[in-house]
Amino acid sequence: MKKRTFLKKLSAIGLSGFIPNKINNTNLEDLNHGKYYSENNFWKTVRSQYKLNSEFINLENGYYNIIPNPVMIKYKKLISKINYEGSYYMRNKLEIDESKITKNLAEFIDCNNEELIITRNTTESLDLVISGYPWKKNDEAIFADHDYGAMKDMFIQVSKRYGIKNKIISIPLHPKSDQEIVELYEKQINSKTKLIMVCHMINITGQILPVKKICKMAANYGVEVMVDGAHAVGQFNLSIRDLNCDYYGSSLHKWLAAPLGTGLLYIKKKNIPKIWPLFATSTKNLEKIKKLNHKGTHPVHSKLAILCAIEYQNWLGIKKKEKRLRFLKDYWINKIKGVKNVKINTPFDKLRACGIGNFGIKSIEPSKLADILLKDYKIYTVAIDEKGVKGCRVTPNLFTNTTELDRLVYAIKKIANF
Ligand SMILES: Cc1ncc(COP(=O)(O)O)c(C=O)c1O
Repeated sequence: MKKRTFLKKLSAIGLSGFIPNKINNTNLEDLNHGKYYSENNFWKTVRSQYKLNSEFINLENGYYNIIPNPVMIKYKKLISKINYEGSYYMRNKLEIDESKITKNLAEFIDCNNEELIITRNTTESLDLVISGYPWKKNDEAIFADHDYGAMKDMFIQVSKRYGIKNKIISIPLHPKSDQEIVELYEKQINSKTKLIMVCHMINITGQILPVKKICKMAANYGVEVMVDGAHAVGQFNLSIRDLNCDYYGSSLHKWLAAPLGTGLLYIKKKNIPKIWPLFATSTKNLEKIKKLNHKGTHPVHSKLAILCAIEYQNWLGIKKKEKRLRFLKDYWINKIKGVKNVKINTPFDKLRACGIGNFGIKSIEPSKLADILLKDYKIYTVAIDEKGVKGCRVTPNLFTNTTELDRLVYAIKKIANF
């Protein structure tokens, strides 16, 4: 593609404003195809697009991903625009913009836009499904002890409210095969089972579960599967159509690096009519997923900025991003594998993890370990001490470089050699 045509294409989707001066000065074709523009320089450029806190090395990007400057600039403009147009915008333009964003998001995760709504986060998305499910007394649900607390709490609440039974399985830290995991869920299924909740990526260890295979197995029993994709959308390449799950929730302020308070909920068309909304809606709309989306007035500029985040991700390329995140995780993990007193809590198989990793050090409590890393080495991680996982979660981001990871490796070796 000629440089001018390429630039035209970028500006057609509003992306030309994203390209920082540094990139504008290089040949964009080379930037994307890497003939002269090396991989290393590409990620250096990406790093330069972030405003980083120089007081510590941020290796805790799993809670939320800070927004790169090109998206931040557009986000700030959106805040001003909404404030400028006020109620006029809300009454006349919001719905049109929202449906455009939903279409783009549906394309990004490969699903039908009539099966998708924008929510505020994964908690809202999945709790809408769990609490709105038409449970009957003695129905059963299956999930794992490694699942996220908020959703487990909602299952406990509906069990008290409707008399359903929750069955909780335990996922091994280093599974031998996909089949081993699929069977863990399958063994719990009986004629009363209605819903399985599965984490696409377990947040505390970074383990990716074989969601597609679990969905296929469950469908043979007529059991529905709800996927917690909080850490999946924007971290690795995925297709909802391919997974063929019944429900999928994600937080876009995590790996899509959209503003805080943005998420999505996918529901397979055939399941939409039976889910009760949290906030009552017009009876005309009961067959449409929009019935679940009424939440009153909220910060719409955050929602609008999802489009800017998608454009930026498309500029990066999701496969390239996935490869980079996996490279960064492997980089530090491979250097501490086999080090005395160090335990790795993340699977080693390539497709069972991506950017998130977790390690522990024998005889050091996780909270102490995280403290030492921050106080003595200026490295920010998060302590994990639950469900049999003892360690620190390390979550690099696209701005992370290998010099920072070398510092982490140095710190781990020093601490482990007590
Ligand atoms: C696996 C998983 N599910 C759900 C959530 C909840 O995300 P949010 O707080 O954005 O709703 C998180 C948050 O870290 C998570 O890690």
